[in-house]
Amino acid sequence: MPYSHLVSERIIMTPASERHWLRPPSDDRPTRFAYGADYNPEQWPREVWKEDVRLMREAGVTIVSVAIFSWARLQPAEDRWDFAWLDEVLDLLHDNGIAVDLATATASPPPWLTTLHPEILPVTHTGETLSQGARQHWRPTSPVFRTYALRLVETMATRYADHPAVVAWHISNELGCHNIYDYSDDAARAFRDWLRSRYGTLDELNRAWATSFWSQYYGEWDQIQPPRLAASHANPTQQLDFKRFSSDALKDYLRAERDVLRRITPRIPVTTNFMVMGETRGMNYPDWAEEIDFVSNDHYAHPGPQRLDELSFSAALTHSIAGGRPWFLMEHSTSAVNWQPVNVAKREGELARDSLVHVAHGADAVCFFQWRQSAAGAEKHHSAMVPHAGPDSEVFRAVAALGRTLEALTPVTGSVREPARAALVYDWESWWAVERDSQPSSLLRYRQEALDWYSAFLALGVRVDVVTTTADLTGYDFVAAPVLHVVPQALAGRLDAYVRGGGHLATTYYSGVVDENDHVHLGGYPGALRDLLGIRIEEFGPLQEDVDVRLDNGLTGTLWTDRIDLTDSGVTVLARYEDGDQAGRPAVTRRALEEGGSAAYVSTRLGSHGLPDVLGPLLSGAGVLSELPVGVRGQVELTVRTDDSHAYWFLVNRTDEPVVFEAVDGEVLSGPSPAGGGLVLPSRGVAVLRVASGATPFPHGQATA
Ligand code: GLA
Repeated sequence: MPYSHLVSERIIMTPASERHWLRPPSDDRPTRFAYGADYNPEQWPREVWKEDVRLMREAGVTIVSVAIFSWARLQPAEDRWDFAWLDEVLDLLHDNGIAVDLATATASPPPWLTTLHPEILPVTHTGETLSQGARQHWRPTSPVFRTYALRLVETMATRYADHPAVVAWHISNELGCHNIYDYSDDAARAFRDWLRSRYGTLDELNRAWATSFWSQYYGEWDQIQPPRLAASHANPTQQLDFKRFSSDALKDYLRAERDVLRRITPRIPVTTNFMVMGETRGMNYPDWAEEIDFVSNDHYAHPGPQRLDELSFSAALTHSIAGGRPWFLMEHSTSAVNWQPVNVAKREGELARDSLVHVAHGADAVCFFQWRQSAAGAEKHHSAMVPHAGPDSEVFRAVAALGRTLEALTPVTGSVREPARAALVYDWESWWAVERDSQPSSLLRYRQEALDWYSAFLALGVRVDVVTTTADLTGYDFVAAPVLHVVPQALAGRLDAYVRGGGHLATTYYSGVVDENDHVHLGGYPGALRDLLGIRIEEFGPLQEDVDVRLDNGLTGTLWTDRIDLTDSGVTVLARYEDGDQAGRPAVTRRALEEGGSAAYVSTRLGSHGLPDVLGPLLSGAGVLSELPVGVRGQVELTVRTDDSHAYWFLVNRTDEPVVFEAVDGEVLSGPSPAGGGLVLPSRGVAVLRVASGATPFPHGQATA
């Protein structure tokens, strides 16, 4: 068996810092951006492979992810294996200087396995068993599936342990994309075990689940089920726990694959591709990140007015999930996808701009799905680096140009995104909790509210970090925590200490309402944050879909209002309702503490257009100002990466028009050449300026005007 002769000498745990895809142990090439794609050579005849590597070199490709959906090719029957083709592909790539992020190939079980063991198929909450025939049709908790999958992982790891092309392991693919919620009997058993370890006793579970409501008392563990289709609203804490459990169950599966890989190839770093994007919420990624050696993310842009804001928001969140370390953009698209209702092509400049926004937020690798556009199969209308039209195409030319841009940006690799002075808190538990059934409003969208706040920061030209509730907030001058609904006492204490320490907090409607068991903090809303905010709310005032309310500062609110009473003399009313049921009452409040901090509350949805008017003064009050020249704020997104000696200022034109910087200092690493001391950023263009660390490219006076 090739490549495995050194395995026994390698069973030594390597520190995580040494397991990095940019610096495989045997590699002395200079560090540079990784660039590439998912590569699926099994879809093509051998003759195409040579052409593939030739074009990869032309495009500046340095890495490809291989074998992601190859299980049926690698193991065509239970006792038959075929690695010859993969050996050949890896050798070919290596001979051409292209590294491999090798998949464990477990994402899509082959038909022989589902025929032999239909009990690995997932079951929906209505009791239907999903069939084979697409992908990811496996139960995260199936012991049978795990046995077969880990056997494949072990075989792959042993075979390719010493292949010089392999610089990283790619566990499965987008874990949970299609199978996060499984309601099978396997899941029921695992759910009970999970509950036993969370609660210890049935008494504790009955208390947490408030089972005295609707006669749900459990006398035996075996009586507990996943929240399958029921006659009415399922127990809300059971629903929340099932979400926590489902994320943990897949995390446990991830660890199982990882442990096999670490045992056999301790020096090869392990990753799996997260989906920090859009409404993908099933997997609590901040809680998964520690399990792998480096964070990878897949991102697909969603058309609409906040397309680019959402992309930037996801990249900023990925940066914080990665703990501030460089991360890997494992997939995005060169142009259209195939799975949206209408799949629009990217416009000129978007391929590069989308990629560079991820880089600005700390990605040190830029990869696409996929290398060559499939000629057949469900994704044949999904764009790729080599489109159906072939290399003589705008897409391929843009791909090759991006390869050159990334090369020009080589000095940026390894630098880290500089922390902002403001943070936006993003909380998976609140996301899960507020979008269940039986809420004051079914119209509330957690991520949309958070994204609207992020858009407001962008509109004001103020850099912001997107952090989770476990982040250390003390370094931030301003923290926004919209719809922070689930607030355990410990979190309430930390927010209180943050404000008492001089920090400035802003939160919104439906925050502070419940604890970790989804029990209401009694005595009036916003529950755990009531005293800190200096307000008390007796009843929520959600609005029907077609109703809006006017505020006396000229803004319009939708979705929600609150009946606010002030309870602290330090509270100022920043805006009042002018009409609707709360007319005359406070709509936006701010409590100033003697210690210097403040706590603001926004009781209605102001949206991405209204929020800047409220956020701007709150930021000024916290001393947080834009670092951009006045004239370009809102049109340009600013992100800064730094290393020991330099700062790299990423200026991203968010508009379809050129943006003019009257005066800039610094060396342009990539982007338009400076002219007359200034710089014109073309429509959708990106410039990366290098300055000494601590310096600004904008001459004195522009930034704070
Ligand atoms: C996901 C998957 C890929 C492919 C793309 C298409 O990201 O990981 O295999 O299906 O979506 O957008």
